[in-house]
Amino acid sequence: MSLLIKNGKVYQNGILVKKNIFIENEKIRKITSLDLKADKVINAKGKIVLPGLIDCHVHMREPGMTHKEDFFTGSMAAAAGGVTTFLDMPNNLPPTVTVQALEEKRKLAKKSIVNYGFHFGSTINNIQEIKNAKNIASVKIYMDYTTGDLKIDDFDVLKRIFSSAKIASVHAENENVLNAINLIKEAKNGIYICHISSKEELHYARKSKIKNVYVETTPHHLFLTAEALNEMGAFAEMKPHLKTKKDKEALWEGIYNNKIDTIATDHAPHLKEEKMEINYPYGVPGLETMLPLLLNAINDKKLTLKKLVGLCCENPARIFKIKNKGFIKEGFDADLAIIDMELEKEVENDRLMTKCRWSPFDGWRLKGWPIASIVNGNAVFEHGKAHNIRAREVSYNV
Ligand code: DOR
Ligand code: ZN
Ligand code: ZN
Repeated sequence: MSLLIKNGKVYQNGILVKKNIFIENEKIRKITSLDLKADKVINAKGKIVLPGLIDCHVHMREPGMTHKEDFFTGSMAAAAGGVTTFLDMPNNLPPTVTVQALEEKRKLAKKSIVNYGFHFGSTINNIQEIKNAKNIASVKIYMDYTTGDLKIDDFDVLKRIFSSAKIASVHAENENVLNAINLIKEAKNGIYICHISSKEELHYARKSKIKNVYVETTPHHLFLTAEALNEMGAFAEMKPHLKTKKDKEALWEGIYNNKIDTIATDHAPHLKEEKMEINYPYGVPGLETMLPLLLNAINDKKLTLKKLVGLCCENPARIFKIKNKGFIKEGFDADLAIIDMELEKEVENDRLMTKCRWSPFDGWRLKGWPIASIVNGNAVFEHGKAHNIRAREVSYNV
C-alpha cells in the first residue's frame, strides 16, 4: 500500500515547505516536489501537515474501567485529535505494576487504531517487576492521592524506585515537586514531572540545575482556571486542581521561556453520571480538544506552530526516546496530522468519540482543527470518521 499526500505545506525543520509526502510500507519514503504515483492520494492543498502528536499522558481505562473508556474508543478520540501515538498510564484495575499485568494490557491494546506505549506503575515492593518489565516508556510514581491506589509516601522507598528507573514520570503536587527533584538528584536518572499546574510547581521544577528534569503541563491548566468550577463543578475537577489566572499565565510564560517541555492531555475520562455523584472521581477527557485548543491559540497569536510541534511531537519523542517518531523525515514512521488552520467550529459533547462523551471545553468555538490523521501510513481519521485499522506498540532507542 502506498499513499501520496499532495500539495500540503509540510512542517520540516521548523518551517513549512510545499512538498508531497510519499508513503510506502508504513514509512515516509520521499518528501518531494515530484508527483509520484500511489494507491491512494490525499489532496492537502491549503492544509498543513504536521508530525502526528505524541500524547505522553493518557488513561485509557483498560483493564478494569472500560465503562469509561477502552483502547478502541480512546484511540478513536486520539485519532480525531491528531494524536497518532499515546503513552498509557498504569492506574488500572488491576494496576500495571507486574510484568503479567503489562502483558495482559499489551493484548488489550491491540485494538487501538493509533500507536501506543506504556508507563509502568510502582508500588512499595515491585522493584523486581520494574527491572523485568520490557519496552516501557517510564516508571510512573504517584506521590499524591488520585484515581487508583498507587500513592507512595515513604521517601526511602521512593528513592529506591527513582534509582531503578532510567526515567520516572511522577504525579507530584505542590511541594512534592521539590521533594521529587531532591529524590532524583541522588539517583541521577531522568524525571518527567507530570501536569505542572501552578507558578509554584513550575518554580520548584526548575529551581535545581540538574539535567534530565522534564516538565509537562496540560491543556486544562493552560486554558481554564478554578473559576470554571463555579459553572462546571465536578466536571472541572481533576488532580492537580485548576489554579488561578496568575498560575495559568505563569504556565504560558513557561512555554515562552522553554521551561515547559511537553503538553499532554492527561486524558482521564469518567462518565457524566459518575461526575454527578457526591464522591465524584477526578479527571477530564482531553484527547480530542488539545490540538484544536492549541491551533486556536496559534490563530490568536498566543503560540507558534514551531512551539506546538516541539511540545507535542518532537520533545515527547526525545524525552521517552521513541523510535522513528515525532518528526517528518524520510525513513521515519508515517504518522501525520493534517490540519486546517481556517476551519472554525464548536467543541460539541455529542460529537466526541471518547466513551464518556463530554468535555470541559464543550461549546468553545475554536479556529484550527485536525482534519485527517495518518497512522503507519493509514488514514485512520478522515472526513470526520475514524477507521478501524489496528496500530502497534512503539519501541524505544536504548
Ligand atoms: O485528575 C486526574 N485523573 N488526575 C490523575 O492523576 C489521575 C486521573 C485519573 O486516572 O482519573
Ligand atoms: Zn497525575
Ligand atoms: Zn494522569
